[in-house]
Amino acid sequence: MTAQASGRFEVRDLTKTFQTDEGPVTAVRDVNFAISGDMFFTMLGPSGCGKTTTLRMIAGLETVTSGEILQDGSDFRRMNAFQRNIGMVFQSYALFPHLTVFENAAYGLRLRRASEDQVRRGVTRVLEMLRLDGLAHRFPADLSGGQQQRVSIARALVYEPGMLLLDEPLANLDAKLRVEMRDEIRRLQKSLGVKALYVTHDQEEAMAISDQIAVFSKGRLIQIGAPYEIYARPASLFVADFIGKANFLPCRLGPQAEGAAACTLKGGAAFEGVRLQPAVSGEEDWFTPDMPGLLMARPEKLWIKAADKAPDAPRGRAMRIQFLGSFVRYMVESAEARGPVIIDSPGFAEGVEEGDEVAFGLLAEDATVFVAAGADARGGMAA
Ligand SMILES: Nc1ncnc2c1ncn2[C@@H]1O[C@H](COP(=O)(O)OP(=O)(O)O)[C@@H](O)[C@H]1O
Ligand SMILES: [Mg+2]
Repeated sequence: MTAQASGRFEVRDLTKTFQTDEGPVTAVRDVNFAISGDMFFTMLGPSGCGKTTTLRMIAGLETVTSGEILQDGSDFRRMNAFQRNIGMVFQSYALFPHLTVFENAAYGLRLRRASEDQVRRGVTRVLEMLRLDGLAHRFPADLSGGQQQRVSIARALVYEPGMLLLDEPLANLDAKLRVEMRDEIRRLQKSLGVKALYVTHDQEEAMAISDQIAVFSKGRLIQIGAPYEIYARPASLFVADFIGKANFLPCRLGPQAEGAAACTLKGGAAFEGVRLQPAVSGEEDWFTPDMPGLLMARPEKLWIKAADKAPDAPRGRAMRIQFLGSFVRYMVESAEARGPVIIDSPGFAEGVEEGDEVAFGLLAEDATVFVAAGADARGGMAA
């Protein structure tokens, strides 16, 4: 393991403002995160949220407007490309078309003036690692997309960088290959003990590959956490909505204590001790004055029954029933919710057909109740 791989990489208040014909555009605003050891760290967010700009500032391909980039406390930007010791993989592969697979992979070693012997050993090693050893003398045009992406990863790994930067490396591959390659990238990264800073807009890919995920929205980093934390305890409505599927049920709020609250849905179903989470600023229009809370629950946490089996539970109509193999998805129209209620049930609910009236519910411990940022949650308490 190199010194860098065991060390700590950090960005502080990283900001990028582009000057455009229409005026300044702040693509990245006050972003903070740290990556240590051999962590696989992913920046996740919709297109245009500033992921590539952040990565390009770290790679030195874009100037920094303000903020710091630090490697073990030293200014990363003062280091030259060799000292930074990063390997970069792009969505477009960016291979040299006139060079063979071997020479593409050798590029970083040749730049570093490695001996012929070092080049041969280094390239042979990475080509084997990426199962490209039979293709060393081919040109990029004679390779499949997956093979080309493997070459671009080989090229980034050949000089044993301390950190790999990958910008949507799998976006051009078909679905099956994407899943294979993401497992392979993680396996390689862990076996080499390097840090990975990975960019994707695909939340499932991020969940599958990452140790930590940083969720971005509109140039800001909204939440950092392990995949499970982000899914189970989203810190904003944007994150709840963007990661996996979420049900949002407007509610009135009762007494609260120690980060938990009582709440009541429109139809009267009451919950106690629900985890309370302030939304972030800018999310105010998710709330209404009469319903100042929004109970969020994941589809697999809801149960569903024929309406007559639970007369007091929230109600709706099963509009669509989809058998999805390992679970059954019920799409329920209900006056209780913003949008359709999605219920993922481990099996078919007895006596529930499409078009039927149904009852549904959940446990308080499986829900989160969001309130507007800065709101006094008791302000909307029902008398
Ligand atoms: N060179 C540039 N000049 C002006 N605006 C840019 C430039 N590069 C990116 N942007 C803008 O910055 C924002 C973030 O872009 P980007 O970092 O590429 O997002 P992502 O990679 O998350 O899709 C977008 O609004 C984009 O239009
Ligand atoms: Mg991008």
